[in-house]
Amino acid sequence: MFGLEKAIVGTFFHTPVYGRLEYQKDALITINQDGVIDRIVQADDGDYLPLIQLFEERGTLIRLTDNQYLLPGFIDTHIHAAQWPQAGIALDAPLDVWLNEHTFPLEAKYNDIDFAKEVYTDLVKTLLARGTTTALYFGTIHKEASFELVKIAAEKGQRALVGKVVMDDPQANPDFYRDASTASALKETEEFIQEVTAFGKDVIQGVYPVVMPRFAPSCTDEALAGLGALAKKYDTHVHTHCSEGQWEHDFTYDRFGKTDTEALRDFGLFGKKSVMAHSNFINDNDAAIFSENQTAVAHCPIFNVYFANSIIPIKHLKELNVQVGLGTDISGGFSPSLYDGIKQAVMSSRQLEDGVDTRLPQTERGVPDSRISIVEAFSLATLGGGEALDLPIGLIKEGYTADFQVIDTKAKENPIQGFGVFEDLEQIFEKILYLANPVNIQQVYVQGKLVFEK
Ligand code: GUN
Ligand code: FE
Repeated sequence: MFGLEKAIVGTFFHTPVYGRLEYQKDALITINQDGVIDRIVQADDGDYLPLIQLFEERGTLIRLTDNQYLLPGFIDTHIHAAQWPQAGIALDAPLDVWLNEHTFPLEAKYNDIDFAKEVYTDLVKTLLARGTTTALYFGTIHKEASFELVKIAAEKGQRALVGKVVMDDPQANPDFYRDASTASALKETEEFIQEVTAFGKDVIQGVYPVVMPRFAPSCTDEALAGLGALAKKYDTHVHTHCSEGQWEHDFTYDRFGKTDTEALRDFGLFGKKSVMAHSNFINDNDAAIFSENQTAVAHCPIFNVYFANSIIPIKHLKELNVQVGLGTDISGGFSPSLYDGIKQAVMSSRQLEDGVDTRLPQTERGVPDSRISIVEAFSLATLGGGEALDLPIGLIKEGYTADFQVIDTKAKENPIQGFGVFEDLEQIFEKILYLANPVNIQQVYVQGKLVFEK
């Protein structure tokens, strides 16, 4: 139907199980007409050579070179598209000040569709060039501008999940940037769901509407309950912020007399297509609520350094069976690249384990057994994102969508060398994660379609 059949021969890496690296050398990956991986054929399989010949004759065989490696496309489970102009700016203020003085005035500008188009076009291109094939985007309160983001992602070939943000409480939000009323916030959300769903029918890689309260402090109880009902009625994804910093965690506890997790769950916002950004302060009972509902955490390690007043115990949450994806959180996080997020996730976990205050004895300084490995962090950006969004993405496996990044380790501007000493495939993989930058990302495919080429 979509005519996307092709095949790729090359060495690929992925983690079919959290933290467990699997690779296949010179595998043949066949992709069907819908852009889904059909078969993965190893070099010793009798079908290998005949299939290669068939795709070669059809002119649809892509052969990676000896210096090229295939990774699954990355999945950004938390990014504020509208904050892209602000990346790298205003990282010194606490969260509430950052929102009121910097972020809301910027987001208010998206009533200007031309501004929205300019920023969103640049952002989608930037993300694709960094290997991000799927993104869960916060828009703004503006339905039209948020729909523009959907259209731009669709046109550029990225898989996008987008929400019109709801901030309806007149006590909590500035007059220049809030929904006109609770009723209009709910009405526009419902219209947005219907419009994106209709538009998405013709978008092969998928674009999805998301129910999106900004966070509990910006919404009335009525809006939160209404959004929970809409998510149920239309079976949509849900995305918001949860227990993200000390102030926000305490504020919601004081307001509801229960944790942010319990409150959001009670408003009907916890389901298997729900993703809660940050969630740094969740306790073990909250974690059980995440796990029971198959609701995911979007871990945003760079944001956390600046705003979260803490390091989230990812290792512990994984042990409690919580789904965890990775997010850039532009612009609370400064980098659009999940390569940077992967590294920061590892480094932050090491600081949690060792502790930070040298005035304490070493044995009392940290939280033992908290580190995550670079392979585990890579799992968060791939497998974890697919689990969080409940989509067949993040693995190079039959039945998963053909979303790939082709990494060239010998890119002239940034050769990643092993000097004959570090040439095992595991070592090459680790070096890619630590040392690759955008110049090494040669090509990006989404749903079998080439969407970026250097
Ligand atoms: N909490 C409420 N709004 C925001 C936002 O824009 N970014 C982040 N990271 N946290 C928030
Ligand atoms: Fe955020």
